[in-house]
Amino acid sequence: MRTIDWRDGRIVAVDQTGLPHDVRMLEIGTTAELVDAIKRLAIRGAPALGVAGALGVALAVRDEPEDRDRDIKALRAARPTAVNLAWGVDRALARLGDGPDAVLAEALEILEADVRDNRALARRGADWLLEHAAGPIDVQTHCNAGGLACVEWGTALGVLRVLRERGALGHVYVDETRPLLQGARLTTWELARLGIAHTLVVDAAGPSILARGLAGAVVVGADRVAANGDVINKVGTYPLALAAARAGAPFLVAAPESTIDPASPAGDAVEIEVRDPDELVHIGQTVVAPPGTATLNLAFDVTPADLVTAIVTERRLIRPARGERP
Ligand code: MRU
Repeated sequence: MRTIDWRDGRIVAVDQTGLPHDVRMLEIGTTAELVDAIKRLAIRGAPALGVAGALGVALAVRDEPEDRDRDIKALRAARPTAVNLAWGVDRALARLGDGPDAVLAEALEILEADVRDNRALARRGADWLLEHAAGPIDVQTHCNAGGLACVEWGTALGVLRVLRERGALGHVYVDETRPLLQGARLTTWELARLGIAHTLVVDAAGPSILARGLAGAVVVGADRVAANGDVINKVGTYPLALAAARAGAPFLVAAPESTIDPASPAGDAVEIEVRDPDELVHIGQTVVAPPGTATLNLAFDVTPADLVTAIVTERRLIRPARGERP
């Protein structure tokens, strides 16, 4: 099953707000519908956002709405942190001069390349991990960097899938990933479907899983990698990197080249999305904080380059902790 695809002139995507209980598809025919789906995380994850951005431009260009440029601008800005969204929009837009068919062809090439690139970077990540730890390797992960965040294979979970194919994967620990529970809802769903043994823990337990030696490595995805090697990913990644350094465990980031942003010199130059306070103060339908409580719902954090043992992309291995720059 592909998380996002193009069928009969429309975007077809898994509605990730329904998982794990309800597996339903969204059919999207306009850029405005796509922006809405992205904002409410029905479509999410950096590589999937890149594909969505490009397909959204194809929709806008084909339909030539009066407000085409405004619609594309709104799409590009629908979420600010994952650079892949703007990258996908810009790549498709670059073909505008060649007509709507060329724009769509570019978007479809981005979609197909995502599958190939995931596999290539996942193999590189598994090779690297096996050089640094004896299998079977127990892994801590955070958020969802699986097929649901891409087109079908996954980045961080792609690495775990390759390790499993090689008989070298031990147990996977999954942070729940408050407040939207991408770990509890999505990563557990994917790992269960793949038959990979896993255990869900609260976010605050992640560092202790490393300190106790239950996991010997961290493998995560990224929303953006700055030019100095800082990694921006789902909030809660940074504490795992600190704990991994303390425990002497490798901290591996698996991401496509499209996640690397030479225009962001360092992590502090990247806009961190601040989401609706309602996500933070509600657990299900229940409000858990006193009315009027001040909140800061940061959706991502910055892991400094010196804590990032390695980044694998479809093309290369980068070791920021050793001073290598993307
Ligand atoms: O807010 P989300 O769910 O879009 O955040 C996703 C993440 O932080 C992922 O770890 C990242 O996009 C990498 S996905 C391969």
